[in-house]
Amino acid sequence: MQRITIMLLFGGESSEHSVSISSARNVYAALDDTKYDIILCYIDEGGKWYLLDDLAAQIDTAEVPQIVPLMGSGNFMTIPGNDLFAPDVMLPILHGANGEDGTVQGLARLLHIPIVGCDLEASAICMDKVVTKQLLDHANIRTVPYEVHVTGDPLPSFGQLSASLGDTLFVKPARSGSSVGVSKVRNDSELSAALADAHQHDAKVLIEKAIVARELEIGVLGNGHDARISGVGEIMPDREFYDFDSKYDSASQTKVAIPADLPDAISDEIIATAGHVYDVLGCSGLSRIDFFLSDDSQVYVNEVNTLPGFTNISMYPKLWRAKGLDYGSLVEALIKTALNQ
Ligand SMILES: Nc1ncnc2c1ncn2[C@@H]1O[C@H](COP(=O)(O)OP(=O)(O)O)[C@@H](O)[C@H]1O
Ligand SMILES: [Mg+2]
Repeated sequence: MQRITIMLLFGGESSEHSVSISSARNVYAALDDTKYDIILCYIDEGGKWYLLDDLAAQIDTAEVPQIVPLMGSGNFMTIPGNDLFAPDVMLPILHGANGEDGTVQGLARLLHIPIVGCDLEASAICMDKVVTKQLLDHANIRTVPYEVHVTGDPLPSFGQLSASLGDTLFVKPARSGSSVGVSKVRNDSELSAALADAHQHDAKVLIEKAIVARELEIGVLGNGHDARISGVGEIMPDREFYDFDSKYDSASQTKVAIPADLPDAISDEIIATAGHVYDVLGCSGLSRIDFFLSDDSQVYVNEVNTLPGFTNISMYPKLWRAKGLDYGSLVEALIKTALNQ
């Protein structure tokens, strides 16, 4: 069998830099080195790309070459050195801005190199929670009611918002992740602090009705009619909501149930909705689709993550393991979906 050269991309400019490195370590360890040659491409917080020899505990870029793309040629080049290399496929284990949002996917297209996961358009759409909702609303898929606040808009009054959205609200950046900049608010002063915080991350911010809900997540893998859908998993955060620490702190008591304990009708509804969402948003390769199930049994789509976490405790690989696909086979399946495109 011909060996395949994979360019593993990790790090990146977003607030999820360190999450990406943890995910990449797991992916790197799982890649079968009898089948693959692996190029380790670390993106630092300033956006520079480096060619690493290994994924040591402490990443040091002092003595390693930078990487630059050669458009239209399928090649990258090292500086210094001017060595050319041509990966068969790019594997972005990147989250958030300049990684999950269509930018790297666009670069891959310009380079003429296949890339694992959603294309430029679907990545950009799913990165933006407002655009995602607009498209899902149009397809009659239920999402949480919301308003948009753009930098420079007058400060809204809590009373006015709560008249339509209820007495507890969530404020969150339109294009962020890992709960960075997300707050729960119950009055005017919390609202203005939350908007200021969210605007640190994005000029476009959502103000949403808070849903008292169970948090359910599902994985989709593959392309078009061949896409497979996992079972439904449940996240049970150890605090008021699923914030950054409850996601990643090693002391977090957040629990996960796979499969989620749900009536068949609800789990069938979520599985069918996930397939519909994947099609409507034009996803390919993979996505994790996150839902809320409210006390009155309404299913809402919360968000779509086109490059979900791949750490050893992440939901996406766990959902597939429960379906009989171990971590290594999952990564292999992802690479195949990109090469078959
Ligand atoms: N409208 C909402 N109602 C209830 N909880 C919410 C709502 N929006 C967000 N949350 C809570 O905040 C977490 C992070 O919000 P989310 O929209 O998933 O953003 P991120 O992209 O940062 O994960 C959710 O997992 C959930 O716990
Ligand atoms: Mg989320």
